[in-house]
Amino acid sequence: MRVAPGNAEQAEHWNADEALHWVAQQERYSAMLEPFGELVLEGAALRSGDDVLDIGCGCGDTTLAAARAATTGTALGVDLSEPMLTRARERTKREGLTNARFEQGDAQIHPFPDAGLDVALSRFGVMFFEDPHAAFANIARALRPAGRLSFACWQGLEANEWLMVPGVAVAAHVPLPDLGEPDAPGMFALADRDRVAGILAEAGFADIDIEAAGPPLLIGGGGTLDDAVTFMREGGIGQALLADAEPEEAERAVEAVRDALKPYVTPRGVELGSAVWIVNSRRPT
Ligand SMILES: C[S@@+](CC[C@H](N)C(=O)[O-])C[C@H]1O[C@@H](n2cnc3c(N)ncnc32)[C@H](O)[C@@H]1O
Repeated sequence: MRVAPGNAEQAEHWNADEALHWVAQQERYSAMLEPFGELVLEGAALRSGDDVLDIGCGCGDTTLAAARAATTGTALGVDLSEPMLTRARERTKREGLTNARFEQGDAQIHPFPDAGLDVALSRFGVMFFEDPHAAFANIARALRPAGRLSFACWQGLEANEWLMVPGVAVAAHVPLPDLGEPDAPGMFALADRDRVAGILAEAGFADIDIEAAGPPLLIGGGGTLDDAVTFMREGGIGQALLADAEPEEAERAVEAVRDALKPYVTPRGVELGSAVWIVNSRRPT
């Protein structure tokens, strides 16, 4: 796979432990993130015959949804992660969808055919580019005139209760890792609304609409308090937070997270607030 030199670290990351957790817990991630995918698909307003790109498609939830909605059209999922793409391909085959396919690649430099797509969409797959200007310009180039771009990205950490509540609990027991520069590639790289608008305008997009949304988030897609704590402990965020902790420290931190999440237990599962941007735009005609 060809990867921009600045994205090599992300390519390594998304082919290691975190990707394996996404694959092993695919049903849980799918359930947890479904409301966000729905918001993206609503914005994309797919029509029969659309050719759709899913950027950073992971295990393929939104690619499969796009393939179903585009009917006579096509859906292409592109991702850095071989394990996640393998799962996406298995799911496509199992469902018998013939208009979805997947390519391993770095969307920042992937050689998409010029003006070959009606829609580019993404659920949380566009925050990891070392050079977002180059990446969104590459995506704009791949869209036909009036082609649509729809994606979801996270607002800042402090706006996301589902991360702040466990994060504060952990911080009482272990030092939190350096989150790096606010705009650095990672979960919060597109948290600044004005920066997103600037990047898209510079990449050649028009009619840029960025709306705040915050559907309730069920940690691990539902289940018991223990399920939610285990899901968070074993996922990428838990691994990153507790990477340098001594085993007893880590144990105390996990117990603190369990206590902190207790008030959020509902009949559906452990449910907290979220905050995302839903971004819709188009390539000029
Ligand atoms: C948070 S996951 C989201 C996965 C999927 N969109 C979903 O909602 O289930 C981010 C995904 O973006 C992918 N990704 C990160 N940087 C990428 C890049 N430069 N090109 C393509 N995919 C990338 C990762 O491999 C990972 O699968």
